[in-house]
Formats: sequence, C-alpha cells, structure tokens
Amino acid sequence: MNKIAILDFGSQYAHLIATRIRRLGVYSEILEPSSASAESLKDYAGIILSGGPSSVYEAGSPTVTPEIFELGLPILGICYGHQLITHLLGGKVEPGQGQGREFGKAQITIQKNEGLFSGFASGEKTQVWMSHGDRVTQLPEGFEILASSVDDKYSAVGDAKRNFYGIQFHIEVVHTAKGNEILSNFLNLCGAKRDWDLGNFVDHSIEAIKKQVGDRNVFMLISGGVDSTVAFILLVKALGADRVYGLFVDTGFMRSGERDEVEGVLRAEGIQNLHIYEGTVEFYGALKDVYEPEKKREIIGRVFLEIQSKVAEKLKLSPEKWMLGQGTIYPDTIESGGTKNSDKIKTHHNRVPEIEALIKQGRVLEPLKDLYKDEVREVGEKLGLPASLVWRHPFPGPGLAVRLLCAQAEDWPENHEELQSQINIFLKGKGSSLLGHILPIKSVGVQGDFRTYRHPLALTGETTWEELAALAPALTNHFPEINRVLLTLILQSLESVQITPGSLTPARTKTLQEADKLAMDWLKEIGRSRIVWQMPTVLLPVSVNSEGKESIVLRPIVSEEAMTARFAELPMDKVRELAKVLLQDSQISAVFYDVTNKPPATIEWE
Ligand code: XMP
Repeated sequence: MNKIAILDFGSQYAHLIATRIRRLGVYSEILEPSSASAESLKDYAGIILSGGPSSVYEAGSPTVTPEIFELGLPILGICYGHQLITHLLGGKVEPGQGQGREFGKAQITIQKNEGLFSGFASGEKTQVWMSHGDRVTQLPEGFEILASSVDDKYSAVGDAKRNFYGIQFHIEVVHTAKGNEILSNFLNLCGAKRDWDLGNFVDHSIEAIKKQVGDRNVFMLISGGVDSTVAFILLVKALGADRVYGLFVDTGFMRSGERDEVEGVLRAEGIQNLHIYEGTVEFYGALKDVYEPEKKREIIGRVFLEIQSKVAEKLKLSPEKWMLGQGTIYPDTIESGGTKNSDKIKTHHNRVPEIEALIKQGRVLEPLKDLYKDEVREVGEKLGLPASLVWRHPFPGPGLAVRLLCAQAEDWPENHEELQSQINIFLKGKGSSLLGHILPIKSVGVQGDFRTYRHPLALTGETTWEELAALAPALTNHFPEINRVLLTLILQSLESVQITPGSLTPARTKTLQEADKLAMDWLKEIGRSRIVWQMPTVLLPVSVNSEGKESIVLRPIVSEEAMTARFAELPMDKVRELAKVLLQDSQISAVFYDVTNKPPATIEWE
C-alpha cells in the first residue's frame, strides 16, 4: 500500500516526520515499535525509525524486530533510529563525549549525491539540525558514508543495495535547510505515489465526530485560542449547535482584555451556547504558595475539571449523555510524555491524570489531536473563521500562570562563582566582550528529547544578533548548568541579583498583564506580529541592582510547529524603546531578551 510507517521511539519530533510526509503528499502512520511485527509492516511502502531519548546500548532501551530488515522495504533511521539500525545490523554506537555531542545547527558535506541526496551537488555543504548525545562509531557491513559533519563523519550513511539509510540529524525540522528534499528523495526510493491531501480533513473529521459521539452531546472547554475555537466550530458543524455546549473559564490568568475579546469573537460566529464562568477565586485559592511549575500545571488542570463538573452538574448534563470536548493538538500530547517512549517535558492542562482516565473510558472528544498548529490554522481557514482568530498567537491553556515564575529563595548552581568565571573565560576565548551572569532561578527546557530544569545566563554589554546567535548555542552546549541565554537590555551591569520571593498573586499577575499588553501592542506597532510566531512575556521574581522588585523577559520566537523554534531578531532600537517603557513600572528592575532556540530552551518559561 501507498503509506509510510513511522516507528516512534519517543522522539519529540516523531509526529513532525508524519506531517512532513503528509505534506509531501504521502499518507503516513505512527506505530509503536514494540508491537510492530514484520507481518504488520509488510504492506507499507517504506519504514522510518524515529529519534528518541534512549541509548541503544542500555538495557531495556526500545527496539524493533530485526525481521523488518528481511521485508525488502526501504528503511530510514533518524538519530536514535540511525543508531538502532547500526546496532541491529552489527555496527557500533558509543556515548558522545565533548565534541561528539551535538545540539543545534551544524553543517554537513555531501559525499554521495545520489539516492537520498539526489539533486544535491557533490561536496555541497548544507545546514542541518543536530540533537544527540550518542553517535555511530562503526558502520555495519554494506554501509558507506553519504555525508559528514566536522564532529561526526557518519552524519548520513546508507546501503543503496538494500535501501537502508541512517542519518544523525533531524530532517523533519525547519532548521535542516533541505530536510524536505531528503525526505522526498526517501519517498522516491520507496516508490510512494503523492496522493494525500489535507483538504479532506474537514469532511473526514465530521464523519469521525458523528461516529464517536453517537447519540450523545459534547460539552467543550474553550480557551479562546485557535485550537479550541476551531475544534468547537468543527463540532458545531458536525452535530449542530444544540448538541454542543461551550464553557469558557476565566481563570484570572488571562491577558488584559482577553475575556471580552474571546466572547466577542465567538458571539460574532453566532455561537449562543456559551457559558462564562468566573473562576478567579478558585484558581488563586488552589495555587496559593505553590512554587513548582509542574505542580502549578497539575493544580490548574484539576481546578479546570472541577469547575467543568460543577457546571455540568448544575446544568444537569449527565456524564453518560455528554462527552467532554477538548481542543488538544498533537504537541500537547507528545510533550506530556503521551507516546510510550517519550520523556515527560511538562504536563499540558488537557493531559492531567483525571482527563487520561476519562479518555480511557471513551468520554473525551479531541477532533484536532493529530494536527499541528499550522494544519489547525489551515482547517480554521477552510471553516471560514476570521484571520484575526486564525492567526492569533498561541497562548498556553493555564495562561499567564505559566509565565509568572515563582520562587521562595535563591537557587544557585553549585560553585556558582567558579562556574561564572569559567563562563567569562569561555566568552573571552570566543573573542566576545560580553559578561555573563548566572541568575539564581531555574526554568524548564528540552534537550536531546529530555526535560531540563536549569539556570538562565544573562549577558551584559554591546553585541549583535549575529554574535548572540553563535554564542547562545555554544554556551548551552558547553555548560550543562544553563539552558537559556538572555541579553540584558538598557542596564550596563548586573551588580546585585536577588530573588524577591513570590508565588501566584493577583498583584503579580497585574504587573505581568500590563507588561504583556505593552509588549503585544508594541509588536503590532512595529509590524512583526505575523512573522513572530509567538512572544511570551515573562515575569521573573528577580530583583536587579535593587531590592524587592521583579524582572521581565521578552521571548519572541519564529517557528512553524512549536516543536522547534528560533529566537526572533527584532529591530534593536525598537526593542530598547520597549524596554525603557517597561522599566518605567516601579516594580520592574530589569528587562531581558531571550536569545535561546528550542531546543535547548522551550518557548514558554516556567
Ligand atoms: P513549549 O514551551 O513547550 O511550548 O516550547 C510549545 C507550544 O505549546 C504552548 N503551550 C501550551 N498550550 N496548553 C496549551 O494549550 C498548555 O498547557 C501549554 N503549554 C505550552 C506554548 O505556548 C507553545 O506555543
């Protein structure tokens, strides 16, 4: 059959491979490697083995039956998949040390410009995205080198006779300049016809919704973002307005003016069954004195559900007759550790254990759960939703509660003064005049498919975007204690840096709402709100050169699918103007600009 199987070893990107293949016009499916027998794979046109967080030589690491190599099908391994093919066919994989570990952009040089690299020039250099700890050190029999990087001569290898290929870099992310060309070449090697089109999604999905819901109705939580609104409209189309009930919960962590805006948009779409619940008191009560980011997420997810049940009870919507609808999209599932082999980066509010239990009972409807943001937008456009809604920046379900970092006391890495001087020696060695300052707080990141919880490094001094783009990955690759790099705006030095203890309070939310509004209005004014995919504004309980104040971080990024992202390079004179305005708030002592890509940082700060 004309479809590609992707065996998911727990990569953050496994589903990106699937969507890229679909975009290239070939249907693709994701399968669990442990239950994929050679028999079940024989009707596919080709097989891809994804990346993943494990090491092939560790006991218990995920694998696949070696019988797949007897099927006569083309097989492509990516990152962990590449290492697994090597391992299963008799080559060697070892932990990378120092230079062998690569995270971020790298250049490969093409040595064989045919097959997988057909259409490339021999000797061509091309940019790829690396994210790996282990690496191949010896090839299995029959394999040869197809492309190499400076740090890894086995960046791409293959056995053209058997059509087996392995690549160490990620072709599925946009930072690999010609990833689509390589993937398309693999589809050609599979002899796959290009006959898949997202255009049928709306019709297929309406059919699927009708079937899954049967004679029940749907009660849907709406956040006002693109995903839940598109899901809601799709449900209304499939079932009719009478059978769908929308609940919008004001958590108290919305953006300034957001509640009215959301209500306005939905009412304008003719949605009448919309219930607005004022939940501020409940959320602040449950989150009092909670500091740990995962804990916050757990509590928010739970309170959402309690409110939902309360409203359902009040409205007498019996659980047997009413399913729970959610606007979950694919990254929400995978980053919560949703596929068997993936590491848990964070719990999305729509993947807390209570929801998981309802899913098992068949009581949750998530019509967009296999789609990525760009596909949801396309579906939104097909449904005729206004551009202002379809192109809204994503906003996490738990709202500003995520972006309000909480801390009780200073949290420095071990020997932080020594580490800081090593960082400054490193910077000097790179020819930079910037100074680095570790901040006494941690935030979540993602690296090599794992969650990290590490320190940011703030830089001070004169610099350029070019220098920052080169320094940030060099610093996070070299110093495992840090997962983010920030540029300090306006302030020339960070003489003292202290924590201002704080959890989630209405006063802190107000400070962030005001800063966020200024930042979002500014982004529109400078005409960048479409190019910038998302720009979280973050409140850090960090007081710089003062006492009892806080700091703001601006986090503008460019991305296609939120699984990877680059920091956005906005006009520096305008950025400084915004920072000056933000510093006028008597609570704000410093403004930072996050120059870290994803990985190693996440888009959100928490
Ligand atoms: P990260 O921070 O993991 O974010 O790089 C990836 C994308 O997901 C959004 N995000 C969420 N969306 N519920 C959501 O609906 C959540 O709990 C949540 N957490 C993160 C984030 O804004 C970004 O677009």
